Amino acid sequence: MPALVTGCAGFIGSHLTEALLSDGQDVVGVDCFNDNYGRTHKLRNLERALAHERFEFVPVDLARGDLEEFVAASDVVFHLAAEPGVRSSWGARFETYLRNNVVATQHLLEATRRHPSTRLVYASSSSVYGDAECYPTLETATPRPYSPYGVTKLAAEHLCLLYRRNFDLETVALRFFSVYGPRQRPDMAFSRFLHAALDGDPVHILGDGGQTRDFTYVDDVVAALRAAAEASSAPGRIYNVGGGTRASVNHVLELIAGMIGHPLEIERAPAEHGDVRDTSADIQLAAAELDYRPSASLEDGLSVQLDWTVKLRAQLVETRSQSRRASTSLR
Ligand SMILES: NC(=O)c1ccc[n+]([C@@H]2O[C@H](COP(=O)([O-])OP(=O)(O)OC[C@H]3O[C@@H](n4cnc5c(N)ncnc54)[C@H](O)[C@@H]3O)[C@@H](O)[C@H]2O)c1
Repeated sequence: MPALVTGCAGFIGSHLTEALLSDGQDVVGVDCFNDNYGRTHKLRNLERALAHERFEFVPVDLARGDLEEFVAASDVVFHLAAEPGVRSSWGARFETYLRNNVVATQHLLEATRRHPSTRLVYASSSSVYGDAECYPTLETATPRPYSPYGVTKLAAEHLCLLYRRNFDLETVALRFFSVYGPRQRPDMAFSRFLHAALDGDPVHILGDGGQTRDFTYVDDVVAALRAAAEASSAPGRIYNVGGGTRASVNHVLELIAGMIGHPLEIERAPAEHGDVRDTSADIQLAAAELDYRPSASLEDGLSVQLDWTVKLRAQLVETRSQSRRASTSLR
């Protein structure tokens, strides 16, 4: 049976889709090309999957469309579609967060309710912890989100788990911690830092750079998602998925400067509302039950993201000059 991947054109969803396809799995991918970043960027993420014979793309907005037919035909739903990002979750855009995170998840759960043997793996977030009670943070810590985004991710997580308790659905929630790697969303820190550093522009950071994150390489997240789809102990559980170590933003900037071979010009602005000081995952539960072992070091993962960014920029330059040549020859 095919796996259903919601948010397949996104950063993490596109990596998961490719990993499943390359293992011979049929995949039905759903995405609505939400406007949190460019459609071209998302289409590029999907390029390889779209060329694969085992992939079917369904352009549906989960907050509106009905996916029951696809849920019925799948034994696992990986639910990654969401409105991500802490900072834009204030103000008017909150309604979009509610819609894409809470309403969309409820629709998917209603569809899954009629097919209770289909497992639903939900992409939750470390943002549910807010300023956590303790570090490293256990799944049992009281969630107290510090941003509207965190509230919507927690609400959807609760929905997944209450459908488990009421209807015995096979729902699992994975709390991802700051994911990075090739195709990282353009609004995310590493992506912004790398482009600025390669352009020779100032790197803008919010706060003093001493804030720490448990950075997690995207392939490790994909491994956790796949393990959660298989493990017999997973239904009803919440698992932290972190990178295994935490690093400060200042340390990341030092690594980038070392990799590109020149010092970075850094411009600091005050920290923004919703940003927590630290995150750190206790991953013992995922290790014990999902055999989760983060394999990428920050240095290695960052270097892969840098290489990918350099190649992407070269491709964009080439595409631009091709279209310039084409328009000149048409004149
Ligand atoms: N990237 C991280 O560091 C991180 C950390 C914690 C949790 N997460 C969670 O992981 C998931 C994937 O994050 P990402 O960074 O890949 O984000 P992303 O924005 O790159 O991918 C999400 C995709 O979902 C799609 N989408 C949004 N609303 C939709 C809807 N109503 N119907 C259909 N498709 C819709 C978007 O178009 C997008 O392609 C999200 O649920 C996010 O909350 C991400």
